[in-house]
Amino acid sequence: MSAVVKKAVVTGHPVAHSRSPLIHGYWLEQHGILGEYGRIDVAPEAASDFYRNLRSAGLVGANVTVPNKEIAASACDWLDETARTMGAANTLWLDETGRLCGANTDGMGFLGNLDQLAPGWNRSQGTALVLGAGGAARAIVWALLSRDFTAVHVVNRTEEKARKICDEFGSKTFAHGWESLGTLLGKVDLLVNTTSLGMTGKQPLEIDLSNLPRHALVNDIVYSPLETELLKQAAVQGNPTVDGIGMLLHQAVPGFERWFGVRPEVTDDLRALVLKDL
Ligand code: ATR
Repeated sequence: MSAVVKKAVVTGHPVAHSRSPLIHGYWLEQHGILGEYGRIDVAPEAASDFYRNLRSAGLVGANVTVPNKEIAASACDWLDETARTMGAANTLWLDETGRLCGANTDGMGFLGNLDQLAPGWNRSQGTALVLGAGGAARAIVWALLSRDFTAVHVVNRTEEKARKICDEFGSKTFAHGWESLGTLLGKVDLLVNTTSLGMTGKQPLEIDLSNLPRHALVNDIVYSPLETELLKQAAVQGNPTVDGIGMLLHQAVPGFERWFGVRPEVTDDLRALVLKDL
């Protein structure tokens, strides 16, 4: 009798750029698991049916990337607290009764990365400043509030979008336009860039960090390039820094554990493998 090979995939539109097969492939090999992890391009109009029929497609689960995360959440029978809050799911699996379940692991990936690379980073919690107000910013604001930050400031070019996030998350969150940045930087313990500024091919993120307290941790979730201008400037000033590749790796951990039954680790080797592929 042949052993059952568990199969999972990353889905999105497009999906060719996704590093998830590399990450999960590394863990499958590392743990000697007889499993497969591939990629399938799923257009938004076909997405709901695709996710509802995972089992008949021979899959134990799927990762979901842009633009299908909201559709995936709607297709689920059950969502964890983060996916419910975000209205978006990036990790799907079938439970023992066959229900389609969804989680959003972006916030956990953010926390896992900082916990690993800057142990004790949130020991004193305090004040965080999140630049940007897209999907990643929402997940990160949620994550920071789950770690009891006393204040989370969201600064965005389009202030209205920052306000929407803060209206949703409540009294510890504060929305601002870009012009408030200089003043705010003087009182933050953690600065996170979630905008696309600084990515290869985009405009650089040009902000003056001289006001930033020296102890403040600076995290850029941009990972291509790994060493962004923001991180370079912070390092020159003597601020601790954490790059963004680990968030991508850590957000993959819960899915692998669900599908293949082993909690994988984000190792230096995995980090190097993915960086080589950027
Ligand atoms: P994601 O879902 O990955 O977080 P997104 O929704 O595309 O990505 O969000 C991109 C973020 O980068 C937004 O906060 C965007 O600001 P706006 O909401 O004002 O568009 C920010 N961003 C992109 N280009 C920018 C620029 N040139 N200057 C300032 N902010 C910029």
